[in-house]
Parts: sequence; structure tokens; C-alpha cells
Amino acid sequence: MSNNYQWFPGHMAKALRAMREDIKLVDVLIELVDARAPLSTGNPVLQELAEGKIHIKVLNKSDMADPEATKRWVTFFRDRGDLALAVDSKRKQDVTTVETMLTRLARDEFKESDARFEAAVRAAGGDPGKRNVRIMVTGIPNVGKSTFINTFAGKASAKTGNKPGVTRGKQWIRLKSGNDLLDTPGVLYVKPLSEESGMRLAFLGSLNDNNLSVDELALDFVKWCLEAYPGSLSAKYGVEETDGLETMEAIGAKRGCLKKGGIIDYERAAGLIIDDFRNARLGRLSLE
Ligand code: G4P
Repeated sequence: MSNNYQWFPGHMAKALRAMREDIKLVDVLIELVDARAPLSTGNPVLQELAEGKIHIKVLNKSDMADPEATKRWVTFFRDRGDLALAVDSKRKQDVTTVETMLTRLARDEFKESDARFEAAVRAAGGDPGKRNVRIMVTGIPNVGKSTFINTFAGKASAKTGNKPGVTRGKQWIRLKSGNDLLDTPGVLYVKPLSEESGMRLAFLGSLNDNNLSVDELALDFVKWCLEAYPGSLSAKYGVEETDGLETMEAIGAKRGCLKKGGIIDYERAAGLIIDDFRNARLGRLSLE
């Protein structure tokens, strides 16, 4: 069975509509993308939704990505005029850099001198002279939103209740800096722009695995890996790198993924390979 990597059911479009409403409440949008595939894991619609807001693109899980590729991506986004930086959300000091960046921007540049910030605050129902910067974290499933929020908020932060008139029903976290962070991240879904893009999302675990054949997914991954990072599969599994199917079978045999009679258990071999990639056990590989 060949996988359909461009599947985009209706409830995903609905989630995007809901997020449009939340975005109206904030001044700053922190968009998490996966450093291993920053284009495929970003949502082009967000660019338009973020109009008039401070929009920071955070290339997360950079500890798992190819450092050279990440450097090039950060340069690419900055050259394009985006605020971009690479982080490992599990590291407090990385996440602090994001806050330093946005505080500097929001307080010193935007809040005091830029009419755009004031307009954004007014549009959110606030008073630009009085109110703290409101921040929201968004991103596709599994990109690390909860991890980022936990590290960002830290232990000392207090949850604050509703803010009448503006944030009804929303839970905010008051950060040490005095800024407010929306405690539930905005989940974005992307309709993959191409088959390749969808495939990358599937490799990363950001498409629902239940709708995919794991055998096919792993075979597609092995084929990609042989081409993009030759030597990495043989280094990890001690197999000869030939074509996709043979290499996958060799990995299965080497790891004892066998059924009765010594037949390769493709499903187990596939699961193992994908799991190793998703946990960076094959090294720091970038898909883009
Ligand atoms: P989500 O809210 O966007 O769905 O993502 P979540 O934070 O749940 O993160 C998904 C997985 O990615 C988690 O791993 C999390 O630990 C991991 N993760 C998030 N950010 C980073 C990062 O910058 N670097 C690395 N190496 N990993 C990151 P998990 O295996 O699902 O859970 P756990 O066993 O780590 O708790």
C-alpha cells in the first residue's frame, strides 16, 4: 500500500478557524517549527494571521537537527525578514533567549516607539500604556509546544485567571518578566504542499500514524536516508547499504525482527527504524 501523505480532514480546518480567534488576544506569536524540516512544519497561513503582531519563528529540536542545515535555515529566514532562532526546548537557557528577544522587541522597540504594537494591543481590547505583552505559542502536533511552554514558564510562574472582557475562558501564565503567556498552545495543522512535504511530516510523527502504513513510511525513510545521509544506516545498524528494500530487510535481520521460519517482520523493522529516527538515534539528520 502506498501512503497518502496529503490527507487533510475537515476537523483540521475547524481547528485553524478556532486559532484565528485566539490570535486576536495576543501581541506576540511564537511559531514553533521543527528544525529538521522548517518549511514543511510551518504554516503559511500563519504569516497572514500574524499580520500586525510580533511573530517569532523558533526552530525547535535543533539538538536533533543537522547543525549546518539549521544555521543555513536561520540565515534564510532572517534574510527573508523573519525573526528566527534555533532552540532546544528542553534547555532553559535556549528558551530564555527567546524571551530576551521578544522582551527587547516588545518593550524597547515595539511598545514605546512602534505604532504597530499599540494598534495590536488596542485591537486585542487592551491599553498599550498599561498592559503586559501577551504571548501565544503555536505549532503543528508534536513540534514541542508543551515542552517549550513548560520550560518558558518555569516553576516560579503563577497562573492568572480570566481577564474580564478580553480573555474570557482563557488561562494565562504570568511570567517572571511580567509578560503573559497563554497556557494552551495553538495547534496548527498543515495541508502538505507536496507529497514530499507530507512525507517529511510523517517521518517526524506530525501526521497521524494511524492513517499511514508504517512499512511504507519506513521504506520511504530508508530510501531518503540512503540518498541524503549515506553511511548513517550502516553506521547505526552495521548493514550494507544497497537499495531501500534490501537495506530495510538487512536492518530487520540484524535486529532480529523475524517471524516464524526466518521471514522478515517488516512491521517490527519499520517501527524500529522510524523510532530510531524520531529519537535522533541515527544522528542529527535534517530532512530539509
Ligand atoms: P506538542 O505539545 O507540540 O505536541 O509537543 P511536546 O511538547 O509534547 O513534544 C513532543 C516530543 O518532543 C516530546 O517527546 C518532547 O520531549 C520532545 N521535544 C520537544 N522539544 C524538544 C527539543 O527541543 N529537543 C528534543 N530533543 N526533544 C524535544 P516524547 O518522547 O513524546 O516525550 P518525553 O518522553 O520526552 O516526555
